[in-house]
Amino acid sequence: MKLSIIGTGYVGLVTGVCFAEHGNQVICVDIDRNRIKALTRGEVPFFEPGLNNLLVRNTKEGRLQFSEDLAETVKSAQVHFICVGTPESIDAGKLDTEGVSSVARQVGKFTVADDVLVIKSTVPVGTAVDLSARISKEMQKQLQIVSNPEFLREGTAVEDFMKPDRVIVGLKDARSSAAAVMRRLYSPFVRTGNPILFMDHNSAEMVKLASNGYLATRISYMNELANLCEATGASVSMVRKGMGLDSRIGHRYLFPGLGYGGSCFPKDIQALIYLGKGYSFGSRIVKAVHEVNAQQRQNFLKKITNHFGASLQGKKLAIWGLSFKPNTDDIRDAPSLTIIEALLELGAQVHVYDPEAMRNVRTIFKDRIHYEANLNDGLKNADALCILTEWNLFRSPDFEKIKSLMRSPVIFDGRNLFTDVDLKRLGITYYYMGQPAVDGYG
Ligand SMILES: NC(=O)c1ccc[n+]([C@@H]2O[C@H](COP(=O)([O-])OP(=O)(O)OC[C@H]3O[C@@H](n4cnc5c(N)ncnc54)[C@H](O)[C@@H]3O)[C@@H](O)[C@H]2O)c1
Repeated sequence: MKLSIIGTGYVGLVTGVCFAEHGNQVICVDIDRNRIKALTRGEVPFFEPGLNNLLVRNTKEGRLQFSEDLAETVKSAQVHFICVGTPESIDAGKLDTEGVSSVARQVGKFTVADDVLVIKSTVPVGTAVDLSARISKEMQKQLQIVSNPEFLREGTAVEDFMKPDRVIVGLKDARSSAAAVMRRLYSPFVRTGNPILFMDHNSAEMVKLASNGYLATRISYMNELANLCEATGASVSMVRKGMGLDSRIGHRYLFPGLGYGGSCFPKDIQALIYLGKGYSFGSRIVKAVHEVNAQQRQNFLKKITNHFGASLQGKKLAIWGLSFKPNTDDIRDAPSLTIIEALLELGAQVHVYDPEAMRNVRTIFKDRIHYEANLNDGLKNADALCILTEWNLFRSPDFEKIKSLMRSPVIFDGRNLFTDVDLKRLGITYYYMGQPAVDGYG
């Protein structure tokens, strides 16, 4: 099938590359000229494991192209995927769908009957229905609009797209030609029997927000429990393990830490809160989820000021991990940004290391912090090490070396990587999320 993909960010590029890998003819369009130039040269403009090889292969074999020309691209395809960003708008909490609707109207101009317009961006409930009505009124044209929310996770995006747990398809009529197109496109991705689920537009849009809301709720719930463990002396690691073994609960998304960040959970939670504002019952649970999440970053900072005192003047802090989660260079709403800003305000000298996200962080903090080339350089004469992202690289460090390099061997671990290690025996003071430091050891 001939596809146009509009927006070549984490979602659009992965979508385009994966559909090309399954034999479709794909053209990806973006308004960012530099991005299109880089992609044409075979360069992925962000870090996503496995994406580069697929991009290069599919481009070389002629199934994947890149363009700045939306009109020409749309004219040459039958199915059009909108994958542009939907950031939080100035109307706090509301998802900004200006980009989606402007692209939809442009696509509408150049499509012919039977073309399918797929909304993959995360949008507020009601968007597809509104857009259908507006386009048919403004253009006297009936476009087949499909809601097809995306569930990939950055860091494992290619694998997630290639093997989805389910494909959600929202449309007017499950017997329409648009439904047949979606079934044909996605069948190769669900050969092990995972379902392609057809439903109405509003339900499809709600599935996306509801899923992210639920996952964020698990994270905040576990963080609240971590704080209760800290207050009562229970071990949050054991509590997590004990809970997760219940087959009704499971282990995933139950790790205490600095809370969620990134480009999706924070804004999708805000979108749910915003949605609830329109109704008398509101969105009380997700409001609390957001509050707990924001507080968790402050709780981490409190551990540092409890140890050193309110001023960090003259203190050197090394930081491992900047991206909002491992295996990505994405720092949108990353806990590291809030924490570094607060440490600087308290007077600390901050030395950071991350395997992939340094370039992005440099655009924000510029020369206010120090960028280290490896794990160890920032530790030299440091007063403490803060771990903010759980990259695999950080999981089994040489503790003797850490100790020998630092001025004082103190670790503040926002991701609970070493709760099973006897750091006290090694002479390292260890603070982590959910357990009080007793005698220098949590
Ligand atoms: N990132 C994720 O993990 C993820 C997962 C699931 C869903 N989503 C949703 O998917 C959507 C896209 O997210 P993303 O992370 O890929 O965004 P992104 O910011 O990484 O990429 C968006 C791209 O769209 C381009 N763009 C903007 N306006 C355009 C226009 N008019 N024409 C052509 N291109 C245009 C931008 O230049 C950019 O390259 C959002 O709604 C997001 O909530 C994201």
